[in-house]
This record gives sequence, C-alpha cells and structure tokens, in this order.
Amino acid sequence: MATILVTGGTGFIGSHTCVELLSANHDVVILDNLYNSKEDVVKRIEQISGRSVRFYKGDILDDTILDQIFTENTIDAVIHFAALKAVGESMEKPLEYYHNNVGGAVNLYLAMQRHGVHTIVFSSSATVYGQPKKVPCAEDAPIQEATNPYGTTKIYNEKILSDLCAAKKDFSVMLLRYFNPIGAHPSGLLGEVPNGVPNNLTPYVAQVALGQREFVRVWGNDYDTPDGTGVRDYIHVVDLAKGHVNALDYALHHHGVQAVNLGTGVGYSVLDVIHAYEKVCGHKIPYQIMERRGGDIAENYADVSKAKTLLGWSAQYDLNQMVADSWHFMEKLNENQ
Ligand code: NAD
Ligand code: UFG
Repeated sequence: MATILVTGGTGFIGSHTCVELLSANHDVVILDNLYNSKEDVVKRIEQISGRSVRFYKGDILDDTILDQIFTENTIDAVIHFAALKAVGESMEKPLEYYHNNVGGAVNLYLAMQRHGVHTIVFSSSATVYGQPKKVPCAEDAPIQEATNPYGTTKIYNEKILSDLCAAKKDFSVMLLRYFNPIGAHPSGLLGEVPNGVPNNLTPYVAQVALGQREFVRVWGNDYDTPDGTGVRDYIHVVDLAKGHVNALDYALHHHGVQAVNLGTGVGYSVLDVIHAYEKVCGHKIPYQIMERRGGDIAENYADVSKAKTLLGWSAQYDLNQMVADSWHFMEKLNENQ
C-alpha cells in the first residue's frame, strides 16, 4: 500500500477522499493551509476510518514545508486538491487565483521533482469543456477558453502537467475532470460548509430548506433543456472520492497522462434538484426564476465510459442519495451552530 500526500485534504472533496484512501489501506499525509476548511476535519476523518492521519498546516506556496513533508515521509504519490475555487471571486481577484492555483501548483510539482515523486492525481473540472457541442461529453471533446480565471487555472494545470509528462517519461499524471460534486458523508461528519452566500446550487437550496434564505434564485428557465433550467451531472462526493482511489491505483502502475471524466453520466435540471430536496426535507422549497447567470452553460453531463474501462470505476449513488446525505449533514451542522 502507498503513502499519499493529499493537498487540500481537509476540504470538501479532499476529506472524503482521505476516508476512501484510508479504507483502501493507503496511508495519508495532509497538507492544508485551512483557508477554506477547519482542522477538526482531521479528527473526523480519523473517527470515520479508525486510522490516524498526519496533518501539516501549511501552504503549497511554501517550499520549506513541502521539503519538510517529502523528507519526513516516504511519499509515493500526490493527490492535489488545494486550490481556490470560487468562480465569481476569481473574476475579482485574478492574480490571487493564478498565484495560488497555478503558482502554488508549479511549486508543488517542482518539490515532487526534487524529491523523486512522479505520480500525481490532479483535480480538474468539466469547466475545461465550456459548453460542449455534444453531450454526453467525452474526454476528447475540445478544451474551450474558460469564461473566468478559475477555469483558466484548470486548463493551465492540465497543460503544465501534460508538458511535464511529455518531457519526463517516468511521470504519471491523472487529470480528473469532475462534474458537479454534491452530497456529504453518510455519517454526517463530513460535508461542504458554505462560506458566505453559496454560489453553488445545493448549498443554497439547503439553506432555503433550513429557512435561512427566502427562496432559491433559479438562474434562467429559457435554456434549450427539457424544463428550460440548466442541466448538470451531479455526482455524490463519496463516489467521486472512490474514483480517486481507482485513479491513483492506475497512476501508480502506468506512466504518461490521462484525462478522465468523473460523473454519473446522467443530467438533472435545477428544478429536478429542488424537487429532490423537497422530498428529503419534507416541505416545499420556494424558488423564483431570475435572469441567466453570466458564464453559465445550458447543459453538460459526462460520457463515463473511459472511467469504467480505464479505471474500473463508476458512480453508485443517485440524486436522491446525494440530496439525502446533503440534508443530513446540513441539519446536523445547523443543530450545532
Ligand atoms: P475546498 O475549498 O473545500 O478544498 C480545498 C482545500 O484546499 C481547502 O481546505 C483549502 O483550505 C485548501 N487550500 C487552498 N489553497 C491552499 C494552499 N495554497 N495551500 C494549502 N492548502 C490550500 O474545495 P473542494 O470543493 O474540495 O475542491 C477541491 C478541488 O477540486 C479544487 O482544486 C477544486 O478546484 C476542484 N474542483 C471542485 C469542484 C467542486 O464543485 N467542488 C468541481 C471541480 C473541481
Ligand atoms: N444555479 C441556480 N441557482 C443558484 C446556483 C446555481 O439556478 O443559486 C444553477 C446554475 O445556473 C446551473 C446549476 O444550478 O445551471 C449548477 O450551478 P453550480 O453553481 O452549482 O455549478 P456549475 O455547474 O455552475 O459549476 C460547478 C463548479 C465549478 C466547476 C463546474 C464543473 O462551481 O467550479 O461545476 O465541474 F467548474
């Protein structure tokens, strides 16, 4: 079994992935600066898994801590989650996004190179496809210019890591293109803690369901989709986390770069999500149709055949399970606040 450095391991997707890595018998070392997460997540990961985790509070921009981690631990591979991820904020603070998500990433890749660690799983995004010409969207669909700096940082990282693999034949890189991760750990101990006004759909719907906000603002109902609202491929974060374990196993046994979609292959509309949430919370969720949100696409969902054939992975949980686990987590969070 391998020892994995998980950057951003106390974050939403990182924490769930740590649980799955531990249950697959890997050892986990986390590096996180806690910019968007809390240290008690480490205890929760340990509580769920019954295993211990080594935690370093620090930044991927800091060479000293990177060298310390690679010296104190025999790292076999890195899963790189650490990034800033708010699309709107990236338009206001492009330099901070490029500094953290591109500068920080290159710093990490250089540290890996210095310490002879050549296997990396990178958190990319379906955002690299823009609005694809054809759905379901396969990995060979053209990469389109992003509408915001956050999306551009994903495209740049994909290019940087591909160039690295072209130059260094002993590197192994997985570019995992996530569709829309939602849900929470079924224990209710891990989930996405919304910071300020949620940008993403499900945390917003959850806050309306809890009575913390008046209504869901549905960004447009005049798209060319079955009910006119945006369609996305929502994937349970636990499924997504498990996909990383398979991707890691693949990367540890192959060289070169592979881009793989992680989604369910099924598209749901905004109204589908609201109605699914109504069922689990047991009451109506008010919503209002608003103007389209700038930069949004009409629909995208994944062609998941490559994940199945290459990694032997496919998602197990449906939308009902995703919203049920999200609701369980949000209710618990609300009780403890
Ligand atoms: P998150 O904000 O919950 O987790 C990211 C973690 O990285 C946080 O704990 C944060 O404190 C940490 N971090 C940020 N900058 C850091 C730095 N310089 N040094 C050390 N730690 C740092 O986000 P998430 O939803 O778990 O996303 C994880 C990754 O997946 C990100 O790269 C994100 O861009 C990508 N992604 C997320 C989504 C999504 O919808 N959540 C979709 C596609 C891709
Ligand atoms: N939506 C609303 N109201 C809201 C929030 C969202 O109607 O309050 C709609 C959007 O218009 C869209 C759908 O819900 O149709 C999903 O929106 P999200 O903001 O939850 O997700 P996006 O698909 O826009 O983007 C997410 C991440 C990106 C990532 C992308 C692809 O935020 O970082 O998925 O993985 F790049």
